[in-house]
Parts: sequence; C-alpha cells; structure tokens
Amino acid sequence: MSPSPVPGITVRAPGKINLALRVGPRREDGYHPLATVFQAVSVYEDVTARPADALGITVTGAQADQVPTDATNLALRAAELLARTVGIEPLVHLHVHKGVPVAGGMAGGSADAAAALVACDALWGTGLSRAALSDLAATLGADVPFSLLGHTAVGSGRGDLLSPALSSGQYHWALALRRTGLSTPAVFARFDATDGPAALPEPEPDVALLAALRSADLDAVGRALGNDLQAAALDLAPELADTLAVATRAGALGVLVSGSGPTVAALARTRVHALAIAAEITAAGVADDVLCAAGPVAGARVVTG
Ligand code: C5P
Repeated sequence: MSPSPVPGITVRAPGKINLALRVGPRREDGYHPLATVFQAVSVYEDVTARPADALGITVTGAQADQVPTDATNLALRAAELLARTVGIEPLVHLHVHKGVPVAGGMAGGSADAAAALVACDALWGTGLSRAALSDLAATLGADVPFSLLGHTAVGSGRGDLLSPALSSGQYHWALALRRTGLSTPAVFARFDATDGPAALPEPEPDVALLAALRSADLDAVGRALGNDLQAAALDLAPELADTLAVATRAGALGVLVSGSGPTVAALARTRVHALAIAAEITAAGVADDVLCAAGPVAGARVVTG
C-alpha cells in the first residue's frame, strides 16, 4: 500500500561503539552475559512514520539493498509490537534512511527499531513512558534499549540493562567499513568455540575506562578500549588485522573492532586527526569505505513533524 502524502514524523537514532565489551560464558537461553560501555556516535538512522492503510516499509541510503523488507525487519517488528501493546492496528508506513553500516557491529538495525518505536509512539499518541518503550525495546534485541537512551552507558545482562555513565569531552573516530557484514550469532558462536565458555569469569565493567571517560583523558580512553569478541571477528574476517594495524600506525589512540564487527573504530585526538586516519586507511586499501564520527550523541529523538 502506498503511504499517505502527509509529512509524517521523523526520528533519528544513532549507531554505537562498544568502548569495552566483556563477554561471559553462554547462558542457557543462548545469550552471553555482557559488561559493556556503549557510546552513541554521530552516524544515524532516520525513520519516518506516516499513516497508511497497511503496514509497510521502504529503505534508502547506505547499503539499503542489504536490508530485509519482509517480516524480519526490526523496524516493522517494532511497529507491530507497539501496536499490539496498545491494542491498535499497525497502520503505518515506515521509511528508513540508513547511515549506519549494515551488519557492521554498530547496531544499525537496533537503531531502526528504536527510531520506529519512538516515531510510531508519537504518531499514534500512545503516551507510553520512556521506561515502557525501553522494556518493549529489550524484547526486540539486546542493543535496542541503548539506541533509545544514547549518550554513554554501561550495559549488563544481555547488554539491555543500562546505567547512564558520566562522560566529558568529545571523542572523534575514524570508522573503517567492510562491504560484507558479520553475523552477530556467528561471531558469538566463534567466541564460544575458541574461548571455552566454562572457563570464563562473569564479566565486570571496566573501571579504568569509566574513570578516563569522566575526566576526558583521551589517551587513557584509548588504552582502555577492548573487545572480547575481537579475536572471534578476526577469525571470521582475518583481513581486519591489516585495518587495525594501519589505523594504529596512523597514530590512533586506540583501535578496536566495534561490537561483533566488522567495523573497525579508531580513536583520534581531534576531528582533523580522525580525517587523517581515515585517509591513511583509504590509501592503504584496507577498508571498503571510511566514515568519521563523534560521540557521545543523544538517543532516538523526534527531528521533524
Ligand atoms: O538481541 P539480538 O537479536 O540483537 O542478538 C543477536 C544474537 O547475538 C543473539 O541471538 C545471540 O546469538 C547473540 N548475542 C549473545 N549475547 C548477547 C547479545 C547477543 O549471544 N548478550
């Protein structure tokens, strides 16, 4: 069904970088306990919700052709879930404009879900609290609550139990993208196979990183970056080792694979430094594309309508 011509409500939600990602042994439900520090960064998904005579979705922007538009699409599932929760029909057309890499470890799909929840909530005037939206978000995926919250937060549980964290200053990143994404379940399965789930301790939040973020100590933040999934992502995409090496040689304060990868995030001293690192990554031919971004930024919020 075609969407109505009314302008609709546009919500913008950010992608994220896990500054630290500590992973514990696989639980019985298949998920892994996490201790992570999320930072929302300035690459965005924009979702516009318009009244329509049936639920539908269109997608444009970076790697739009890789996004499913069937019932598995997380933004569609978010609209359906919200409608079911408040007892109405999901008569909405969603248009997603993508800026976050697809299957890149930056929670682009989760950002779509968070943005769709906020956009449909506003369109339908459901009046649900942010806490109620966050509970719905957690049922859609472990990273969706953080896409709603934004800024900097410590995540525990599956990554869905959040406490906002104090962070000063701005952090500039060069992001190295890879055209072929990595499947998050596949990376976790590789982690299980190589790290021996039984031997792992429960993950703890990174105190040194949190202290460095509070005092805007860039060098200490760079040193404290770490990702327990990085070895598994490198096993599945060995060429990422070259990307990490080039970014390090280019003077990044710290370099890591973002989440389950394959995006590589390099922390820079300034925006100009981030541009220089991105240029070196491009020149060395160790990424399919590069982006520069800064964080922390706000979570999903209405920008028009
Ligand atoms: O929650 P979400 O659908 O985003 O998670 C995708 C997959 O990632 C899960 O099915 C699971 O295989 C893996 N995962 C995990 N532990 C987490 C988060 C995700 O094993 N804490």
